[in-house]
Amino acid sequence: MSRRNYDIAELRRLDVAHSLPAQSDYAEHEARGGNRVVTHAEGCWITDGDGNRILDGMAGLWCVNVGYGRRELAEAARAQMIELPYYNSFFKTANPPAIELATKISALTDDTLPHVFFNSSGSEANDTALRLVRRYWDVRGEPQRDQIVGRTNGYHGTSIASMSLGGMAHMHAQGPRLAGFHHVLQPYHFGEGFGEDADVFAARAAQAIEDKIVELGADRVAAVFAEPVQGAGGVIIPPPGYWPRVAEIVRRHGVLLVADEVICGFGRLGRWFGHQYFGFQPDLISMAKGLSSGYLPISANAVSAEMIATIKTGGEFAHGYTYSGHPVSAAVALANIDILEREDLPGRVARDVGPYFATAIQRLAGHPLVGEVRSIGLLGAVEIVAERGTNRRFGGAAGTAGPMIRDAAIADGLMVRAVRDTIVMSPPLTIRSISA
Ligand SMILES: Cc1ncc(COP(=O)(O)O)c(C=O)c1O
Repeated sequence: MSRRNYDIAELRRLDVAHSLPAQSDYAEHEARGGNRVVTHAEGCWITDGDGNRILDGMAGLWCVNVGYGRRELAEAARAQMIELPYYNSFFKTANPPAIELATKISALTDDTLPHVFFNSSGSEANDTALRLVRRYWDVRGEPQRDQIVGRTNGYHGTSIASMSLGGMAHMHAQGPRLAGFHHVLQPYHFGEGFGEDADVFAARAAQAIEDKIVELGADRVAAVFAEPVQGAGGVIIPPPGYWPRVAEIVRRHGVLLVADEVICGFGRLGRWFGHQYFGFQPDLISMAKGLSSGYLPISANAVSAEMIATIKTGGEFAHGYTYSGHPVSAAVALANIDILEREDLPGRVARDVGPYFATAIQRLAGHPLVGEVRSIGLLGAVEIVAERGTNRRFGGAAGTAGPMIRDAAIADGLMVRAVRDTIVMSPPLTIRSISA
């Protein structure tokens, strides 16, 4: 396929003059002379305007699960754009791909979460989750349940509500931040329980959730929100005893459990969803990213029969977006799920490439600057430490080595991300053993 030619120097000049990139220091963006311009991608590789070919160890931003260059996704979008490019779901109207996708998502949850609401991004999905939770308790006659429990370093998005829901201190500091969101100990064994028995730590981290519920008063708590594995927080994989305890605690206190599956969904952990991997049943989930492998923006919430049966008795739920159930995004998501199923990419992660990835990155464990290497499915993390056998960081608690190592890896042709001094990876599920 012929590629377009770009004047990269001019694009970078215009980038500085006009673009405000996500999660960026604009002065630094300017000083750098603009961002790397990624011009095309194929399989697991991205190429920039300077001709650098980089192995995408992050699947874009934890999302390109089926890899780049899937012609059938482009064809699904094209066909749907010609047939019906847009219609809303406000006017007692629906469209075929959105109905089919809702049905498919329900089936992927084994019909445990049979009702599906569509949005465009992970942040919007979590805003919707909050509104559904709130509506449920209001209609049930318990409007005082307006407190939400999450975890430190949880990430749920960047809208005002989803940022407040998340536990990222640097985002809270910039506000505006909503009241009623509480953050407790993250199940980060390496960072928070170094040297402690993993199960003792798991019990302590789960207990932190129960303690917060009790402190607030169980009848005031609406829900516990959590990622099955915290991604943006640094691929924080809870020890095995954590999730069974958390699930038991929320049930015992009659609180809703919301799983943010935005990263863990669609095969990343070797199952369709992270809660299936860990064996717990949420009342509501949020999903995005791997739902369309990032080819078009789309996100969704899948909700329990019980929650929707209650909400139904309360009349209109005054919520929805212009692009809820967008037919083109839904058609692409259906085609993407078709690829995931046909190529059994979740199964491939569970049985083949996940175990390979674990073994491959474990080779770094002997390095003098590596404190821990961990992975689950195709999520991996390498902890950089100043002194082996400790969790002590270079330059104090926040660490200073992560960005340097990330930049060196990218210069060497591997895209990774640094979360403080944790190097994280999340490659496409199609990745295979390669030699350069
Ligand atoms: C777990 C989780 N939830 C929500 C979001 C927010 O998604 P978006 O950036 O599409 O709003 C992200 C983004 O990385 C995420 O990792």
